[in-house]
Amino acid sequence: MKNNAAADLNFFICGGAGFIGSNLTKYLYRNFPNCTVTVTVYDNLSSGSLDFFDSSLLEKISFINSDIKDLDILTDAMNSQDIVFLLAANPDIALSAIPTKITKAA
Ligand SMILES: NC(=O)c1ccc[n+]([C@@H]2O[C@H](COP(=O)([O-])OP(=O)(O)OC[C@H]3O[C@@H](n4cnc5c(N)ncnc54)[C@H](O)[C@@H]3O)[C@@H](O)[C@H]2O)c1
Repeated sequence: MKNNAAADLNFFICGGAGFIGSNLTKYLYRNFPNCTVTVTVYDNLSSGSLDFFDSSLLEKISFINSDIKDLDILTDAMNSQDIVFLLAANPDIALSAIPTKITKAA
């Protein structure tokens, strides 16, 4: 991807409030100066935090507090995004042993 072409770029980061996601968000806003960048952070804040973003970045991002297991919300939120990053992960080994339930409206 060239970073000098004028364009709108919509980035979607699942797990964007985590360590890598928050740093990736900063990187994306810094490195496409000629583009209108929008970063949507989709995170359930289970281990991440909005404290990773300074106030100027918080004003720019679009934040959705939701779980990637909520398929309807996730699918809807990913509409019209250009690039999707999947960084959502559970760092808790004990919690990861519990069977996952994905929800979807009938
Ligand atoms: N940090 C590293 O050094 C490193 C190295 C190699 C690979 N990775 C991988 O990169 C990914 C991100 O790592 P990280 O260090 O940023 O982890 P992190 O724990 O800091 O971030 C993960 C984010 O995902 C969110 N999350 C967890 N479950 C979710 C769910 N069900 N729905 C929505 N959000 C959810 C958490 O709230 C958190 O903000 C992970 O898959 C990790 O295994 C990390």
